[in-house]
Amino acid sequence: MSYLLVLYYSSGGRTRDLAHLIAKGIESEGVEALIRAVPKVSANNESTESVVPDEGDCYATIEELENSLGLAVGSPTRFGNMAAPLKYFIDQTSNCWMNGKLASKPVSFFTSSSSLHGGQESTLLSMMIPFLHHGMLVVGLPYSEVELLRTQSGGTPYGVSHWDGEGNNNQISQSEQSLALAQGKRLAVLAQKLNRE
Ligand SMILES: Cc1cc2nc3c(=O)[nH]c(=O)nc-3n(C[C@H](O)[C@H](O)[C@H](O)COP(=O)(O)O)c2cc1C
Repeated sequence: MSYLLVLYYSSGGRTRDLAHLIAKGIESEGVEALIRAVPKVSANNESTESVVPDEGDCYATIEELENSLGLAVGSPTRFGNMAAPLKYFIDQTSNCWMNGKLASKPVSFFTSSSSLHGGQESTLLSMMIPFLHHGMLVVGLPYSEVELLRTQSGGTPYGVSHWDGEGNNNQISQSEQSLALAQGKRLAVLAQKLNRE
């Protein structure tokens, strides 16, 4: 089993769009990308979700997380931070953390927000914290990716982002698309190098 896990939460579908572009970038390097979502957090604390949702990508399991070569992790920006469903999933990874299952593997991040300066960077940075506790190696985007300098929409050195706009209907821009593909490629190249050692 050698795959990179693209793990995300998305309510309106934009973070999901970035997840699929990053997966395309990963697969362009000959590495399998396993795309998995996390379920909404239920208002009813006792209710549980099946791993097969009614539509969209399957929900991730902890085993899939542990067995991956590395991760791309995405969430919508919510008050400048990751959305609760992703944090809820991460909070179930304490066994994985204690056993060091993710240590020394690469991880990169992506997000989507309505406003251009509404907390993309803080969301990307805050998503890094739990994975640093896991001992993972954070992979950003270098400025040799020229779209970082040219973008009029999303895209940061901390990871790719999408600017969804006031009505949440901006399409993924050319710059965002190119950065998402580049991020997937970079993650795949690094994961293969690290896995060889
Ligand atoms: C509770 C909540 C909080 C949000 N907070 C922010 C925010 O801090 N900054 C921002 O620009 N957009 C914010 N948004 C908008 C989402 O980030 C935006 O719609 C995003 O594109 C949704 O991604 P998705 O389509 O993957 O669900 C918020 C939305 C919700 C529902």
